[in-house]
Amino acid sequence: MAIQQGADPNPSYWAAYSNLQHVKHELIKEYLNGWFPKLGLWAGRIVYFDTHAGRGTHAQGQLGSPLIALNTFLEHKSRDKILEKSEVTFFFIERDEENASLLRDELSRLGTLPAKITCRPIVADCFLVLQELIAQFRASGRNPAPAFFFIDPYGFNIPGSVLRDLMGFERVELFINVIWRELNMAISQGERMADTLDTVFDGGTWRDAITSEDIDERADQAVNLLRTMTEAKWPTYCRMLGDNNVTRYLLLHLTNSDAGRDLMKDCIWKVRPDGKFYVRKSDDPSQQYLIEPEPDLTPLRTWILDKLRTNPFRWKVLADHLRAEVWREPHLNKAISELRKGGRIEGDQYEGRFCKKSNPRLFLCP
Ligand SMILES: C[S@@+](CC[C@H](N)C(=O)[O-])C[C@H]1O[C@@H](n2cnc3c(N)ncnc32)[C@H](O)[C@@H]1O
Repeated sequence: MAIQQGADPNPSYWAAYSNLQHVKHELIKEYLNGWFPKLGLWAGRIVYFDTHAGRGTHAQGQLGSPLIALNTFLEHKSRDKILEKSEVTFFFIERDEENASLLRDELSRLGTLPAKITCRPIVADCFLVLQELIAQFRASGRNPAPAFFFIDPYGFNIPGSVLRDLMGFERVELFINVIWRELNMAISQGERMADTLDTVFDGGTWRDAITSEDIDERADQAVNLLRTMTEAKWPTYCRMLGDNNVTRYLLLHLTNSDAGRDLMKDCIWKVRPDGKFYVRKSDDPSQQYLIEPEPDLTPLRTWILDKLRTNPFRWKVLADHLRAEVWREPHLNKAISELRKGGRIEGDQYEGRFCKKSNPRLFLCP
């Protein structure tokens, strides 16, 4: 694999701060808010890796991902409880010397960190660092501490083998910025881009797996392929739309944890309460929803009725099946109650109130 060392090829990235960067950082903050205690309250050590850390702040002072992640932990309400149980380490890898030095300055402004929190800025090519890390863990036969990797390059050329190897360890989660517009263009060029695409997808299966004419269906197919390649249990992603409202990149979360899947779904619903898993560049980040939009639960009600048409299901079993869909559990609970009120479904074999806790067996009304 040819890996080039070098300076930041896109320094103008740091001049502006669009809604897409804002939402990307909101998702990291929201997710880490749940992830830190979920693992930190028992694991002994947890690690956040920012593989493309950048320079720490944008020109107008907005914080970059390393400081977002670190501050999320420093300001976390369970911080001290987590530190009683675990060390928390932040690796910030950045290839560009100048960016790395600016980031170090930002970090030093935070002063001395509480004991058991460590920041390790590294000036290097992240893929070399990750390959070395993978090799070390393999050689030692040990599993790394639970880790969250944020992979945020400018381009799409991320070696698939590295992603696959990382996901092969227990309790590793990846949050990848898939630069879809360029990746899609490369796929459209076919054989001319074959070597690069073979690296990205760790083999030639992209030829048969990504074939749709529709750009968003192709994105779904690419995500499916990345999921299969990494053998991740759950892929969850949000489409980030550029100026012309066409998908520019995908923020893709890969995890083997059911709780991780639920948490990322919750985070995306928080940034899009209407349930549309996309974010537009043109949206105003400072504008909050005055009235939180209610999602249309019609497709969910149809999903429930279709399920029950095959056979009755316990409420909690339906909730498990829901994990593969975009809907959250509170939506399911509401839709079940509505369908029962409307006389479409009924429940039996339960004691007490008709609710998820009493776990009725749900069936279609004749
Ligand atoms: C999109 S910016 C990162 C933004 C940052 N994650 C944030 O949200 O604030 C990409 C950064 O990755 C750096 N970079 C590019 N290729 C790299 C590589 N192979 N290894 C490490 N850093 C790299 C660039 O110099 C640039 O600073």
